Amino acid sequence: MLALLLCAVLAVHADALDVRVPESPVVALFGTDVVLNCSFSGVSKFNLSDMSVFWQLSDTQRTVHSFSQSRDQLIEQEERFSNRTSLFPDQLPAGNASLLLRRVRVSDEGSYTCFVRVQTYGRGAMLMQVAAPFSKPLVTWGQESALKPGDAVALSCEAYGGYPEAQVLWQDGAGRNLTDNITISQVANEKGLFSVKSVLTVILEPNSTYSCRLIHPLLGEEGQASVTISGQALGFPPLALWLTVALAVCLLALLVALTVVCRRKIRESCEEMRAEEEAKELEEAKELEEAKSSAATPLKS
Ligand SMILES: *[C@@H]1O[C@H](CO)[C@@H](O)[C@H](O)[C@H]1NC(C)=O
Ligand SMILES: *[C@@H]1O[C@H](CO)[C@@H](O)[C@H](O)[C@H]1NC(C)=O
Ligand SMILES: *[C@@H]1O[C@H](CO)[C@@H](O)[C@H](O)[C@H]1NC(C)=O
Ligand SMILES: *[C@@H]1O[C@H](CO)[C@@H](O)[C@H](O)[C@H]1NC(C)=O
Ligand SMILES: *[C@@H]1O[C@H](CO)[C@@H](O)[C@H](O)[C@H]1NC(C)=O
Ligand SMILES: *[C@@H]1O[C@H](CO)[C@@H](O)[C@H](O)[C@H]1NC(C)=O
Ligand SMILES: *[C@@H]1O[C@H](CO)[C@@H](O)[C@H](O)[C@H]1NC(C)=O
Repeated sequence: MLALLLCAVLAVHADALDVRVPESPVVALFGTDVVLNCSFSGVSKFNLSDMSVFWQLSDTQRTVHSFSQSRDQLIEQEERFSNRTSLFPDQLPAGNASLLLRRVRVSDEGSYTCFVRVQTYGRGAMLMQVAAPFSKPLVTWGQESALKPGDAVALSCEAYGGYPEAQVLWQDGAGRNLTDNITISQVANEKGLFSVKSVLTVILEPNSTYSCRLIHPLLGEEGQASVTISGQALGFPPLALWLTVALAVCLLALLVALTVVCRRKIRESCEEMRAEEEAKELEEAKELEEAKSSAATPLKS
């Protein structure tokens, strides 16, 4: 009983409320809900109607959320936070003034101050960082043809929809960093999410692999994509091409030969027919003549 009384007396006479917020930045995933922790202690027992909680943007002191007289007071709330914030009212008596922020946007990134007043007051500021993962990187090259050693090619590595900007590393098959002749561009869309495109210009070496690794500053390694160049100077595609050409030539030759043979056959059979016809005609003529001569001779002998 005495201890409790002492506590109450101490609390009342404390200079400031002990407000605690995370010391290291809180990383919130884009589009998800995040709880910005804020807890306070130093008051043993209080009437909810006697307390106020303000969440503000540290830089501008604009209102993110405010609570007083036992309820939310949102008239002064920044437009962009409307319908996206709430406290946990049932947790307030337990010293939990955390803020729930829904559907996190890129523009929400920044410093937030939690201000609590019960009899006395205290505050704490914390940093929130927004992170959005990139899509899996994709390596492409200009020409439609297959890649082969000796070609000068611009290999392009692209990924999109991430935040903040990513680091792109090009490496060879042995994991060595390629640093020359690389360009990178990162463009943000209307939501603030970046598309990243890095182009590596190289003369392709035989038996080599070129991989593009995407590194997210907050989420770490995000993915990689690579192309491998076949060892032979005449790789599979040229061989296939030659085979196709050879096959086509063979087919053509066969066709020509067939045509020639057929023509000859047709001509031969035609000649045969003609010969036969001639022979027939000759025979018929003979028969006719014979008939004539027999007609000349009287039938009745
Ligand atoms: C918020 O506080 C709770 C309870 O102390 C803890 O479990 C959680 O990890 C904290 N969240 C962050 C983002 O600090
Ligand atoms: C406050 O309460 C909410 C809801 O129960 C919880 O998610 C959060 O971790 C609590 N924070 C602290 C610091 O206890
Ligand atoms: C809390 O404050 C209200 C209004 O000031 C009062 O009516 C109520 O009795 C108080 N409750 C406690 C538990 O002190
Ligand atoms: C917030 O929600 C209310 C009711 O659902 C709606 O009328 C209002 O337009 C919403 N405001 C914003 C900015 O979305
Ligand atoms: C490649 O570069 C990255 C970033 O600059 C570095 O962390 C890594 O150690 C380098 N790797 C090699 C094999 O040099
Ligand atoms: C970079 O490009 C230049 C000019 O095109 C070329 O001379 C050089 O060899 C290239 N460097 C590498 C590492 O490919
Ligand atoms: C490429 O690799 C193949 C098999 O892995 C090997 O036979 C060939 O000698 C290599 N060529 C070069 C130029 O390293």
